[in-house]
This record gives sequence, structure tokens and C-alpha cells, in this order.
Amino acid sequence: MKTNPLWWQKGIIYQIYPRSYQDSNNDGIGDLPGIRQRLDYLQSLNIDAIWLSPIYPSPMHDFGYDVADYVDINPLFGTMADFDALLADTHARGLKLIIDLVPNHTSDEHAWFQESRSSRDNPKRDWYIWRDPAPDGGPPNNWLSFFGGPAWTFDDKTGQYYLHQFVTQQPELNYRHPDVLPAMLDVMRFWLDKGVDGFRVDVIWLMMKDAALRDEPPNPDWNGVEPYQSLNHIYTQNLPEVHDLIRQMRTVLDEYDERMMVGEIYLPYDQLMTYYGEELDECHLPFNFHLIQAKWRAQTIRQLVDSYEDALPEGAWPNWVLGNHDQHRIATRVGLAQARVANMLLLTLRGTPTSYYGEEIGMEDGRIPPEYIQDPPAVNQPEIAHIIGRDPERTPMQWDDSAHAGFTAETAVPWLPVAENYTNRNVSAQDDDPTSMLSFYRALTALRRSEPALNVGHYTAVDHDNNDVLAYVRSASGRTFMIVLNFTGEPQEVSITGYGEKAPITLATHMQRRGSVTLPQFTLAPNEGLILQI
Ligand code: NOJ
Repeated sequence: MKTNPLWWQKGIIYQIYPRSYQDSNNDGIGDLPGIRQRLDYLQSLNIDAIWLSPIYPSPMHDFGYDVADYVDINPLFGTMADFDALLADTHARGLKLIIDLVPNHTSDEHAWFQESRSSRDNPKRDWYIWRDPAPDGGPPNNWLSFFGGPAWTFDDKTGQYYLHQFVTQQPELNYRHPDVLPAMLDVMRFWLDKGVDGFRVDVIWLMMKDAALRDEPPNPDWNGVEPYQSLNHIYTQNLPEVHDLIRQMRTVLDEYDERMMVGEIYLPYDQLMTYYGEELDECHLPFNFHLIQAKWRAQTIRQLVDSYEDALPEGAWPNWVLGNHDQHRIATRVGLAQARVANMLLLTLRGTPTSYYGEEIGMEDGRIPPEYIQDPPAVNQPEIAHIIGRDPERTPMQWDDSAHAGFTAETAVPWLPVAENYTNRNVSAQDDDPTSMLSFYRALTALRRSEPALNVGHYTAVDHDNNDVLAYVRSASGRTFMIVLNFTGEPQEVSITGYGEKAPITLATHMQRRGSVTLPQFTLAPNEGLILQI
């Protein structure tokens, strides 16, 4: 058991995509005062920290991940006074606030890039990555953008290409220039001085690129769908030099009390672990996205959890995620009934859970008619938009059954259409139903909060002979819970020995189920998960 756990170890993080949470001024785009109006709701979820996707001034080519000014608030979302008020009210409720930091690239409208692009001898020229054209006039190398096409754009004014691995309007900063990191560390200090509790750091594993800009080799395992995946990204991702940057970022956080940094990193476990740092001096939490990517089978998840637990360095704290603004929603991926099982898994595994807004009510991907598609990778690559488009998981929060789900005024036009099922899949309907997904989520989070076994206790896998059922034990301070999860839509017979006979049910996905089970022989209903007291 973890003794003296910090808030980001014991607590639950809840991600808000500000454009889509609550609109307070009826322009169809969510904003900071809107989030502030929903603090009662947020508190009722028994979460501990809110993470806001970017709220900085931005031309919104990548919906805020193209930052034009790191130390201000986008008027679409409100003012700095609105931010300060949200931060103060969040803290007054005992909640923490984490903001997104996007250090890898800026917007092309950022003053730094404006200077950099103005002439070849501008002092900020090398704050970004500029290169002469290849001999044939084409891009300097074969690197690709995640969002389709080459990672280079030619700039007429100075006759060179600049690097961008996302949209053209997201030029990448050059962290090999000695002045760039100090400037970003100052940005961190600005927000830390204000009192933010931490940062979710965008694409932290991409911040360094090969100094020689070598061509990347083809990916022999490419499935022919997403062009970006056709190369092996050995010169643009996960370079050894990135760790020094992260250590310096961590040093700034450590100048303050209990602040944290969670890094966005999509890597296999052996490499992911290196982002904790050799001395645990890098990310407090390198995001663990493997539940998003794995096949939804009990045995696969068992192996994944066990291999993660085994790979964790001594003293490193685990974390788990089911979804975010870049991934299809969990209820769409596994179905609504399994989404309860998924929430039970997320909220009973050892490690900090991050919930994506709407997961608590079983929100599904929205259907986006072609004329509404806005997400750049989908706009750029219409033939694979249905696979890679991220608009579906970013539709407005479903508050009630009024027009636009209570997200914005009836007369407004929400920036993305509200998912069609909002008339019955919404907070208000579920609030009144003691067996709804929302009531289930609150019961789970309340239980997790009240039981050290669940929030900081040990994890042990439980062996048994049903391959469709995952079972594990969490324990601390003499209290032990067993979690048993049926990953299928069929009833499952389970036989667990070595933990006694009768086990009372503390919480079930099918909330009306009470009583106890007989561990050596019991049946789980389709899509059922149970938390048992042992
Ligand atoms: C990762 C973010 O989560 C995603 O939404 C964004 O498009 C890219 N980084 C670029 O910032």
C-alpha cells in the first residue's frame, strides 16, 4: 500500500474539452464560465482534479493545440479573470486544476514564429526548424505529418521549409536552440505562480527530432490505411535527448508544492517507463493508453495489466485511461453495457484513473454528417475520415433533453452537432435514476474514495479457469476487495478458490444486485462486474 499518497496518486482526474462542456454566452462554443457553472456537478462525481484541454488564444486550426500565446486566455473561452475565478472556485471545493501545455509546436500566429519567419537572420529564426529545399526543390526529407501529407511547408518569403508534424499552421519549436526551453519553463512558471496544480503535456515524446534530419525507414507492418503509419518514426519520436528536457521541466515543478505533470506518450511499456525518469525525475505520470488500444478481451486485459505492473520502476505510480479527445469513445468501442464494466475496471485498478467527460453517462461517439467535419486529419484525408476523424468523440456534453442537450441556447448553433441519443442519454435523466450509469459512476467513485484498498492498495491478479472473466484483488489496511468482470454479453460461470466461501457484494454494475456470491461457484450475468468484499 502507498503510504502518504499525494492527490494525483489517490485521486481521479476528469478531462474537459472546453469547447464542448458548457456554453455560457450562446455562441455555440463551450467556455470557462460554463465550466464554472458546472462545478456542483463536477463535485458530485467525486473526482479530484479537472484537466482542461487548451484554452489559450489560438486561430483554432487544431482546436486550440495551435497556441498563439501561452500566457493568455482565448476570448472564445473567456478572460483571464474568468480563468482566475474558475481556479479559485475549483480550489475552494477542494478540487485541483490541471491545464494543457503544448510545448512541441506553436501556432504560426505566435509572435515567436512571426519573428522567426520574418527573415533568415532574425534572432528567433532557429527557434523553429527551417531547412533548405532538397535538390529537386521538394521537402528536406521524407517525414510525414500525423494529419496527412509531408511534415514540411515551404515559406516563400525566405525560401526555406519549416517542420510541422500536425497541421501546416503548427510549426515545431527547436529545442536544440538554447533559448527555447527556458522560454517554455517561464510559461510553466507563469501558470504555476497563478496556482494551477499541474500540466498535461502534449506529445511530450516528440519534442526532440534527429539533428541530422535523416529520412525515416518504411514501416514493414503498415496496413496501408493511414499514410503517417507507413514510416517507422525513429527520428521524430522518443529520441534519447528528450529526457533531459523533461527533467528540466520537472525541476521547475519541483520548485513548487505538490504540482504534477502527466505526459502524453503513445509507446510500448518498456519505452513508456523511461518517461518516469531514471531517478523518477521526469513525468509524475506518463499516460498509459494501453486500455484504449487493446482488444477488449478479459485475457488480453489481464496480460496488459500484469505486464504494466511488472514493468513499473520501483516507486513509480501507475495510471489508466479509457478515452480522450483523440480516441473513439469507450461506449462506442465496447458497447454501452460493457462501458459499465470498463468504468469498474478503470476505477478499481491500481493507479490514477483519468475519465473523459461524458464517460460517466455512457456518451457515445456522435454521428458527424460530412458537411460538419472539422477535425484537420479528417478534412485532409476524407477517404479515411471515418477511421481517424476525432469530431465524433468531441460532441457537446449531454446535460438534459432540451434543445442542444442544454449545452447551449436553443437559438444557438453548437460548433459540433449534439449526439442524436441525447434525449435519453443525458445527465438530468440519469440523475433521477438510481441504477443509471451516472449513479453507478458516482457509487464507484465514492467507494474508491472511501476505501484505501481501492485508491492506494495492492493489486494481485486472481487465477481461475474462465477466460472471459477478469478477476483481481485490491487490499490495504486489512481490507480486501475482489473485482470480477464479465467481458462478454453471455452469462459466465466462475469458480474462485482460496478466498473463502461467501463474499458480500459491495457494488455491482447491475446496481439492483445485492447479497453475496459463493466464490467456489457463482454466475456473472452478461456484462456484469462485481466488487466483492473478501
Ligand atoms: C495531441 C493532442 O491530444 C491532439 O488533440 C493534437 O491534435 C495533437 N497533439 C497536436 O497538438
